[in-house]
Amino acid sequence: MDKEYIPVRNSHLHYYRAVPLYYQNKDHTFGLYKPPGKTLDDMRLEKAHHPRRLFIKHLDKIKSINEVQRAFNRQLEDHIKSGDPEGVKNILVDIVEETFTEPRSGSVEGLSETVNIIVSDCTNESDILNRILGLSRNDYTSALHSVNVMALAISYAAHTDMSLQDKKRLGLSALLHDIGKTRINADILSAPRKLSNEEFNRIKAHTTIGYNILDTCRFPQAEIKLCALQHHEKADGSGYPRGLTRINPVAEIIGLIDCYEALTNDDRPYRNAMDPLKALTIIKDDVVAGKFNRKIFEQFAYSLL
Ligand SMILES: [Fe+2]
Ligand SMILES: [Fe+2]
Repeated sequence: MDKEYIPVRNSHLHYYRAVPLYYQNKDHTFGLYKPPGKTLDDMRLEKAHHPRRLFIKHLDKIKSINEVQRAFNRQLEDHIKSGDPEGVKNILVDIVEETFTEPRSGSVEGLSETVNIIVSDCTNESDILNRILGLSRNDYTSALHSVNVMALAISYAAHTDMSLQDKKRLGLSALLHDIGKTRINADILSAPRKLSNEEFNRIKAHTTIGYNILDTCRFPQAEIKLCALQHHEKADGSGYPRGLTRINPVAEIIGLIDCYEALTNDDRPYRNAMDPLKALTIIKDDVVAGKFNRKIFEQFAYSLL
């Protein structure tokens, strides 16, 4: 297929206003279906009176993600206002998935607004965040993991009385910590078996890849990219990619929360999700071994209560 055009999800069609839509002819040429500045009307969408597959131009991809993000962020506000934790969780996963279809400058920055909405609109954010963490989904994806780590991180920030700005920074760092995984082959990431050394090294590279993606994005806070780079470092120097012993504080917090989230939620066939107490006991052993910071561990454990 012509790489200049990419198919879009039918469930997203009504979000596109500025972005034109195209149809494909039998001879594989493309024609304009919806011009910029208009949306497809509800009637047409309800009755599916449109070609089965519609396309956008690749050069409009970032603009299209921005339109979908804006629409999703409005839905997120509505779900928060109506106190619907399931709606909040699903839309957050959708926003991250949509953004990570093209993770680069122009799309990634849109997630700042998502975190701002969570932090600013939730008058009792710990409550809604705890409720969304309590909801399990059948699919354990990178996007779901990132949303869970963000919810735990904002809860931690609220518990430790962080300023609004620090809370937003921690939440955004959490949401983006594994962005480098978008460039790692999905077969390796979800392989239900022990990985070879070569494959494990490939996975480890998600830290530097994530740093490089975020380095090109327009974020004022350097911690966001440092968190992607250093969240697998351990204070005793046993982590990766560099074996650092001095770790950025935001990366240190997210590293611990990341570990807890994976232990309690990753329910793949070869490893079972643990209950919170068992996971905390395992992390406590790492604190004793000098891998994690004791104060962060204690504050995090209390934030779960
Ligand atoms: Fe990671
Ligand atoms: Fe992670």
